[in-house]
Parts: sequence; C-alpha cells; structure tokens
Amino acid sequence: MKRRIYELSQFESGSEDSELWELFHDNSKVELNSPIVPPDEVLSRMAQTSDSLEYTAKQQIPLPALDVDEPGSVLQQLINQRVSEREWTLTEITFAELSKILQGYCITRSNEDTEFLQPFRAVPSGGGLFPLELYINVHNCVDLDPGIYHFSPRSNSLVRMVRGDQTAKLADCFVQQDVIYNAAITILLTGMFSRSTFKYGNRGYRFTLMEAGHLAQNFCLYATDMGLSNLCMGGYFDRKLDKLLNLDGVTQSVVYAFSAGRKISEGSV
Ligand SMILES: Cc1cc2nc3c(=O)[nH]c(=O)nc-3n(C[C@H](O)[C@H](O)[C@H](O)COP(=O)(O)O)c2cc1C
Repeated sequence: MKRRIYELSQFESGSEDSELWELFHDNSKVELNSPIVPPDEVLSRMAQTSDSLEYTAKQQIPLPALDVDEPGSVLQQLINQRVSEREWTLTEITFAELSKILQGYCITRSNEDTEFLQPFRAVPSGGGLFPLELYINVHNCVDLDPGIYHFSPRSNSLVRMVRGDQTAKLADCFVQQDVIYNAAITILLTGMFSRSTFKYGNRGYRFTLMEAGHLAQNFCLYATDMGLSNLCMGGYFDRKLDKLLNLDGVTQSVVYAFSAGRKISEGSV
C-alpha cells in the first residue's frame, strides 16, 4: 500500500484520531506525474462494468415515468436539464448570477431555540458544523473586478483575498486548463476538516466530502436555472492549488471545484 510518511505534528489538527483521514487525504492527491489509466483500458473496463445492479430474478415494481411537463415541475426540469459542459465561450456572467449561485451555501434559517450553535444553511451538514469555506476565482464578471474572493455566508458578502486576474495561475492547477480559462467564475470548495473531525473523528472527513457534494449540486441547479454552463471538477493538482490559495493542504484543502460560464452558442451578455 502506498503511504507517504510525514510528521503529524506539522499540522494543527494532529490528534491521534485524525491520523487516518490525514494520511488518506494526502495520499489521494493528484500530482502532475500521477499515473493515469490509459484511455483504451478505461473504455474496456467500462464495457465490462455494469452501471447498475439489476435483480432480474426478483419481481420489478415499475415507477411512473418522470413528466417534466407536469405543472409545477420546475425542480424536475432543472434536475433533468443539468449537464456537465466543457466547451464554453469566454464571456462574462453578471454579479447577480454569481450571487445567486453562492446562495447555494447561504444561511436559510436561525438556530435560535435549537441545540445547534450555528444558523442553518441551504445544505444539510453533519452535526450542523459547516466545515466548508468557499473561494471564488472571478475571471469575467460584470461589476466585480477579477481576483480571488472569499464568500461569507454569515454576512452574505465577498471579501477580496487576491487582487488581479489569477485565472492563468488557477488554470495551471487543473488538468483541463481550457475549462478554467473559459469559465467566468470558478468556485473552490475547501474543507476545514477539524470543524467536523473534532466531533466525528475520521468519519468527519467523510462528512466534509458529503457536504461538498450537496453544495456542488446546489451550485449546478442554480447555474442551470439561469442558463449557465457549469462543470464540477475533481481533476486538479491538489498541492499546487492549495498553495495558490495559501492553504496548508491538510487543516484546510480544496475538496471540489465548480466552474460556470456561458455556452458557446450564447455569445456575450
Ligand atoms: C466527483 C466528480 C468529479 C468530476 N471531475 C470532473 C473533472 O475533473 N473534469 C470533467 O470534465 N468532469 C468532471 N466531472 C463530471 C463528470 O464527468 C460528469 O458528471 C459525468 O460524465 C456525467 O455527465 P453529466 O454530469 O453531464 O450528467 C466530475 C464529476 C464528479 C461527480
């Protein structure tokens, strides 16, 4: 088994309990020279692999087909329309569109009269601990200068962390550089794992990733609703990307990325 040995004491959250998730996180990072499975092998494995278990010996109970034309089926339509897109035109989105996407992690209700210490948000969160922090690379956004911003759900506001267009540097951290170049914005979902691992130990690491999935889906649906192309990405070089954001890669590290832009056919806003 591949294991990178390092001193836990170099990280802030170095409790015995967190050792496994830290080792896993570090060992699952993609490097520039990481081995890749050759495309023909991927195709041949896919051809041999089932995408769904079928218990054909058992009785099937058919479900009604999805009717996207049903009145009030906005959510069904959105879910159906969501698609990963990778060929975008280099045009801007509006500040309003960016703000709306970010509402995917906004505060939705108060924690008053509950046992929870934080107000609740647009996603479920293991223990209501909200371990994610969001950074946005603004490339092409009307009324917002290029740069890297942090989103605060508490104040529903952005703070500029890095002034000036960082898109070229960001693209360098991704396998598909052209997607990042053409994206109007890229949101980097980072995990502050100890917010969850202090309570749940190694499982808190899983909870952080689960929450990132919830959040990314919210982003996809908001973007789809506004007719924006969007793509969720796990194909990035972790160490390089964390370094760009000034993160140590263990106490806080990028866990997922989401880009949005405009479809090639749409042209400029
Ligand atoms: C965890 C995860 C990581 C992904 N990473 C990438 C990526 O790095 N690059 C990419 O082009 N697509 C990426 N995708 C998108 C998938 O390729 C896409 O969802 C899949 O092909 C299904 O197509 P659809 O999203 O259009 O339905 C990722 C999806 C998920 C869920």
